[in-house]
Amino acid sequence: MIVSPSVLSCDFGNIQRDTLMLHDSVADWLHIDVMDGVFVPNISFGFPVLQAIRQHTNKTLDVHLMIANPDAYLEDFKKAGADILTVHYEACTHLHRTISRIQELGMKAGVALNPHTPIEVLTEIAPLLDLVLVMSVNPGFGGQHFISAANDKVARLKALRNQTRSQFLIEVDGGVNLETGAQLAQAGADALVAGSFVFGSADPRATIAALQSL
Ligand code: DX5
Ligand code: ZN
Repeated sequence: MIVSPSVLSCDFGNIQRDTLMLHDSVADWLHIDVMDGVFVPNISFGFPVLQAIRQHTNKTLDVHLMIANPDAYLEDFKKAGADILTVHYEACTHLHRTISRIQELGMKAGVALNPHTPIEVLTEIAPLLDLVLVMSVNPGFGGQHFISAANDKVARLKALRNQTRSQFLIEVDGGVNLETGAQLAQAGADALVAGSFVFGSADPRATIAALQSL
């Protein structure tokens, strides 16, 4: 299992320390949540913080944009150090153009689906995607309760991947712990995001390793 701990739950007063902890852990990716107060009812952080994280690790930065009009900032995210750039289906009118541009800039392109958005909206574009991010909470905050319908959604997305001969990774974000993570592994998830479960645990590195072994 690919594990992508969410930096949103770190101690921002000690972001260098926490980034180095993730860097030294077995975490595969670092998940970076960018929120604009428009697409979601919360504001997190932007380019300077992403650049600071980039300075302390060469691990894959898995950037999740919860922002309106992501097209205006794709190049800036590349410059700030993003490796995977995931936009929300619900925020993109011309999704094909957005995905193509992300890939032209040399990043992997992901699409996130809110809990209410059916997977079928991705049928046409599926073969072009590097990643699909299934939201198992309504985006905007860490520490929310897992919406268990995500398990079935992952299983159906895996079937859609086969039907469309696509290669995208299936990542799940929100309310992931060892129990929900095991369900998601069973359903076919390739990658798990975990914020509060990792940073709220007594031994975050051991927690990351446990999630990875699911
Ligand atoms: C929620 C964010 C998540 C968040 C997950 O809007 O997209 O990445 O950090 O946090 P937990 O794991 O605490 O649900
Ligand atoms: Zn996220």
